[in-house]
Amino acid sequence: MTATHQAPLHGSDLLRLVGAETEVPLVTGGTRRYVNLDYAASAPALQAVHDAVEELLGWYSSVHRGAGFKSRASTAAYEGARESIRRFVHGRHDDAVIITRNTTDSINLLAGTLPAGTHVIAFAGEHHANLLPWKRIGVRYLPVPETPAEMLEQIEATLRDLPRCEDPHLVAVTGASNVTGEIWPLADIARLAHDNGARLLVDAAQLAPHAPIDMQRDGIDYLAMSGHKLYAPYGAGALIGERDWLISGDPFLRGGGAVKLVTVDETLWADLPDRQEAGSPNVIGAVALGVACDTLSSVGMDRIAAEEADLLAHAREQLAGVDGFEHYRVWPAEHPRVGLLTFNMGEMPYDLLAAVLSAEHGIGIRHGCFCAHPLMMRLLRVDDGEMHRLLDEARAGHHERLPGAARMSLGLGSTTADVDAFADALRAIAADGPRWTYVVNPDTDEYEPDPDPRQLPKLPMRMVEHPHGHGESA
Ligand SMILES: Cc1ncc(COP(=O)(O)O)c(C=O)c1O
Repeated sequence: MTATHQAPLHGSDLLRLVGAETEVPLVTGGTRRYVNLDYAASAPALQAVHDAVEELLGWYSSVHRGAGFKSRASTAAYEGARESIRRFVHGRHDDAVIITRNTTDSINLLAGTLPAGTHVIAFAGEHHANLLPWKRIGVRYLPVPETPAEMLEQIEATLRDLPRCEDPHLVAVTGASNVTGEIWPLADIARLAHDNGARLLVDAAQLAPHAPIDMQRDGIDYLAMSGHKLYAPYGAGALIGERDWLISGDPFLRGGGAVKLVTVDETLWADLPDRQEAGSPNVIGAVALGVACDTLSSVGMDRIAAEEADLLAHAREQLAGVDGFEHYRVWPAEHPRVGLLTFNMGEMPYDLLAAVLSAEHGIGIRHGCFCAHPLMMRLLRVDDGEMHRLLDEARAGHHERLPGAARMSLGLGSTTADVDAFADALRAIAADGPRWTYVVNPDTDEYEPDPDPRQLPKLPMRMVEHPHGHGESA
């Protein structure tokens, strides 16, 4: 993919991000503009989203159940957001668009409402959000496929092998891997699934912010996504898809708003989407997500993807020359991918690398296992024996650093200058090592600068420092 002759998107007013110019302190003194290379975990808000939220707040009120004028305005905005989300992913006009908290919530919702007896097929390389919810149902995990062709063969063979019964089948795959960035051939998977009587769920947490999605053209039956990765970090996500399975049983959550009528003995559930949106909805989050979808659509996801592909190519070129830099992939190097690279640098611990980039260079990346333990263990060649030892240690309540890696990821605010600053920092680290002292914090088992003279910003809220490293994210 190559960017068109249009002016570059970076710097375009429409795609301005909140906090793009924020200065952060360095342990070595002074400040620098924060270089955000952590979009894959969570992305900053679009200014357009922020402005829309601020405007809506003046009209904010309860939705659906209020006759007040502000309730009517808020309800219209909430329902409008649903349509913006549908348009963004080219959902069918009769698909349910359910506002959730995030991708994890969306996939758990689907897992919790599948018709009884559904057979699920998922790959071991998925993010835990698309791995763990299926454990409570019958799931067949397939090994991480070495090539796209092998992946298709595995799906076909497994579907053919499933009992030929009336039970529904679901294939659950990622749209783009949060570890390798590799984009999965969704139209091919959908065709194969449908030919074999199955439906397709796509975890689009990483795909939606970086590439166009067309549920109708590609035959995607269900799609899950998160607002906080799509420049709308206001706590909403969405599940879009076929209605019948989502109304085949009781709702995932039970409560107000999900019903038509209740007696002590009987509950008559509402139709979709209300049936799956029990409790007071996140109006602000939904509207933020809807505005993000409209803003990105107006620029064109094709254009965004093309520019990101060019920047990723530049990053790969720059980083290839850095001593000890090794990035991970499963599929061939030329396979299309979203803008991220998961890597290690020789023998340097991944968390030390992340700490040095932050403390000395003002660069934010992610490190760890990225909520994809089976895939990471495969990439890091951790064998079964070692895996069992790590499990035993964890069961016994011992702290043990897991094998892991660092990840840089690009987004709308990323520039060539950011990538170059990152490559320069890695080159300096490779040549001279850290310029500060770092120690392992016994509570978190992670490297931290010692001393750390950086003060957190003074924000208008109570701040309690949380030891990072507990639990894992994105
Ligand atoms: C591929 C993928 N799927 C699912 C998720 C879960 O997203 P969320 O934490 O927004 O639910 C993530 C988060 O990083 C992800 O990268």
